[in-house]
Amino acid sequence: MFADRVLSGMRPTGNLHLGHYHGVLKNWLTLQQQYECLFFVADWHALTTHYDTPGIIEQHSRDMVIDWLAAGIDPAKATLFIQSKVPAHAELYLLLSMITPLGWLERVPTYKDQQEKLSEKDLSTYGFLGYPLLQSADILIYRANLVPVGEDQAPHLEFTREISRRFNHIFGKEPDFENKAAQAIKKMGSRQGKLYSELRTRYLEQGDENALIEGRSLLNEQQNLSVDDRERLSGYLEGRSKVILPEPQTLLTRASRMPGLDGQKMSKSYGNTIGLREDADSIAKKIRTMPTDPARIRRSDPGNPEKCPVWQFHQLYSSAETRNWVQQGCTSAGIGCLECKQPVIQSILDEQAPILERARMYEADPAQIKKIITDGCEKANQLAEETMRDVRAALGLSYL
Ligand code: TRP
Ligand code: SF4
Repeated sequence: MFADRVLSGMRPTGNLHLGHYHGVLKNWLTLQQQYECLFFVADWHALTTHYDTPGIIEQHSRDMVIDWLAAGIDPAKATLFIQSKVPAHAELYLLLSMITPLGWLERVPTYKDQQEKLSEKDLSTYGFLGYPLLQSADILIYRANLVPVGEDQAPHLEFTREISRRFNHIFGKEPDFENKAAQAIKKMGSRQGKLYSELRTRYLEQGDENALIEGRSLLNEQQNLSVDDRERLSGYLEGRSKVILPEPQTLLTRASRMPGLDGQKMSKSYGNTIGLREDADSIAKKIRTMPTDPARIRRSDPGNPEKCPVWQFHQLYSSAETRNWVQQGCTSAGIGCLECKQPVIQSILDEQAPILERARMYEADPAQIKKIITDGCEKANQLAEETMRDVRAALGLSYL
């Protein structure tokens, strides 16, 4: 009923690093070629944990959008916007809160986990408890069916699906639905109408999946049905009411293969990152001072790449030929570690070159950045409004 639409968001909490690039952004680059995509800066979400440093939001949001564009996100293909510039997210969040059981929020695993992890902050706030619900509003307001996120966010998507089902169940009832469905069946003509009713009974009373499939294709063949009637009968067939907020699917992003400088996963909290737009000298210095196989104390000591974080970088960046050279040279002490690191430095700088080039172009033209964001926000507001009209009507709020 609704066309495929991808939505994802990122919190503006600091500069992006190569882990974001390999984990998230490269995935977005593929998606923007295939689907309608909406990517947004989740600045309200950032405030749920960083409410005590509001001053950083603006700079981080701007830098993050530049990072996205520099990575190759194309504003002609994807809509880029800022959450707080689409206030309807907050309206939907409020309306969804009316039907959100407190227990559902308390049960979301990130709630307690994050409170423990960020124990230096007071996260016993209403806003932090509501974090997953705000995320649900972000998704449902665009009727986005595909949401690319990492493993850690899967519970938030599951929560979103539960909220959408509950919403549709409570508010998806059209007044006089049964009658309207009966009228629509009549429009199918007596033979086809009878067949539809039989298939519906077979599915609803006997759980016959084939009857459901047949019923759907029967509906697809109907020439006389309006879009509304078709939607009504499709819901009636499945024993559900109208879908106002469709359930989104999780597009699980594979964990980033990007290692950090110490061999652990690259992450700001481990202090082992290389920034997406970090300058060349600093990158070279970080790689040169990276730990290697501790067995290689002297240049003449042979090593084992499996025990060396630099090898993980070679696996990500180097050709088979270079990897061979590393294997041979390391285990025979034929090459030194600095020598071994040189191709890694070069590959990172090569990968970075087009990113820096695009970033320079955008940095030099703040008016263009502003236009990309304002256009994106305008588009997002329009799309959000389409859903909100139905939501307000369903809640009895479309008066005056
Ligand atoms: N919670 C997400 C994160 O921390 C960010 C986010 C907010 C998001 N709203 C979203 C992601 C909607 C996907 C869809 O990564
Ligand atoms: Fe690591 Fe390369 Fe040194 Fe071997 S030669 S220990 S793989 S940096």
